Amino acid sequence: MRHLIPSYIRVPVIFFAIAALVEYFVDSGDQPAFMEQPLVLLFLLLVLLVLVAIEGIVGAMDNILYQSLDEEAKKRYLASRTKTPQFKKLKALYSKLAGKNRPIEEEGEIILDHNYDGIKELDNNLPPWWVYSFYISIIFAVVYMVRYHVLNADDQFVEYEIEYAEANKAIEAYKKTAKGLVDFNTVEVLVEASDLKAGKKIFEMNCVACHKPDGGGGIGPNLTDQNWILGGGIKNVFKTISEGGRDGKGMVAWKSELKPLEMAQVASYVLQFQGTTPAEPKAAEGDIWVEEGVKIDTTNTNENSQEPNETTVDITKTVEAVVTNN
Ligand code: HEC
Repeated sequence: MRHLIPSYIRVPVIFFAIAALVEYFVDSGDQPAFMEQPLVLLFLLLVLLVLVAIEGIVGAMDNILYQSLDEEAKKRYLASRTKTPQFKKLKALYSKLAGKNRPIEEEGEIILDHNYDGIKELDNNLPPWWVYSFYISIIFAVVYMVRYHVLNADDQFVEYEIEYAEANKAIEAYKKTAKGLVDFNTVEVLVEASDLKAGKKIFEMNCVACHKPDGGGGIGPNLTDQNWILGGGIKNVFKTISEGGRDGKGMVAWKSELKPLEMAQVASYVLQFQGTTPAEPKAAEGDIWVEEGVKIDTTNTNENSQEPNETTVDITKTVEAVVTNN
């Protein structure tokens, strides 16, 4: 057996090849497979162990066989092991590209006529690698001139602008398909039953202690009325859940616990409480929220007014009040 590649290279190469294969075939989301699944790590360790064991066994067998050889065969074996690779083709290519200079004895024939303070010049052949790159640069220059100065193709600034615009379009398209990639600027109300069901589950697991299962409120404010401390509408509600309420009030930021999609689901679920009647409603806090640009008639939402009265809410004022509240 010829050992061209030493084992300290062979073992890691085989190991990482297997690890890469595992990584490719095991679906592990955005985490590496060996971190997501401890079994994979165990498997890889086992592979490493087996590789090292094989190396050890093969080495030992080599040694035993070697000891059983007679002197003559031992010498031949050692000679075969120390043979280094020859790289004949590479060497031939190198000398072809480097060209051949006249040997020193013949330099007299190619010496040029001038003499710079004793420094003389030889008229050697140019090395082929240099000549080829010179030809290539001439061809490049011609192509470049025709393309950019005769045909006026887009220069790099225009190319940059075009690619930038294309990339922006691609990002927009991607955002539309990726529900999980929302923040409070881009979030929209989710209406699919599956999303609302997921939102309900998240709400029941994390939020009911302070907001009650029916949204009536306890430590946290009532979520069923039209009054919002931190602003209503999907974007504000998402922001409150993601970033938390005012300092010291008890509503923490959930962005480290919940994924963006989960926050969008629970925010959409929270908005479903609007207009329902909880068992023990907490008194309204904050201002009545009106979506920007929407005119609505509110009937008796104000606690102080006893009789049902038709009032058209002054949108600008309400929005301003909500904004200053943030
Ligand atoms: C530890 C108690 C607590 C928990 C748990 C809690 N909240 Fe709150 N929540 C509050 C308090 C207190 C406020 C008021 C914050 C303020 O006044 O700044 C609030 C405010 C809110 C608001 C804004 C209400 C408004 O009037 O502007 C929303 C929406 C909300 N919570 C949703 C949630 C959701 C969804 C969860 C679960 C993921 C949750 N909360 C978990 C205590 C809690």
